[in-house]
Amino acid sequence: MREAAVHADHPHTPSKSERYARLRADVEALVAGEDDWLANLANVAAAVYAALPGLNWAGFYLMRGGALVVGPFQGLPACVRIEVGRGVCGAAAQERATHIVRDVHAFPGHIACDPRSRSEIVVPVIVDGVVVAVLDLDSDRLAHFDEEDRSGLEALVLDLTTAVDWDRARRV
Ligand code: SME
Repeated sequence: MREAAVHADHPHTPSKSERYARLRADVEALVAGEDDWLANLANVAAAVYAALPGLNWAGFYLMRGGALVVGPFQGLPACVRIEVGRGVCGAAAQERATHIVRDVHAFPGHIACDPRSRSEIVVPVIVDGVVVAVLDLDSDRLAHFDEEDRSGLEALVLDLTTAVDWDRARRV
């Protein structure tokens, strides 16, 4: 009883790694047994947005017909099409590597969808050697994303490579 009262007075603020562990477990439960890619990606975008503090946009761009096209997301309406090689999303897709941008205004070619965005992380989703999508997170805080975000999001994205029907998701 006494212990519970203490916890109630000082609620535990989860660490970043705790947040990512919980997020991965939540996502696993959300997509388990569901093969509708749209339902799954919509719920993943919502789960990410709800689980991580400091975000103003979180969601997917899907590789369709050779360009990235906006998919399920949370946040303000975003630019619909991004050519591979353009912006942070296009750079991550082209280089097949996670991009962490501490100051979007200093990134040449950054595509501003929400003027509040100050920093960004983009993780490519690679299935059978092919970039099928990117997961994009924006923050209104400068230098919000770090190596813990990289490893947490890369692990989440790796889970999604088998949990989501990417063949259907990419069909134009
Ligand atoms: N800033 C991204 C565009 C997508 S929005 O942030 C949602 C980019 O430069 O690719």
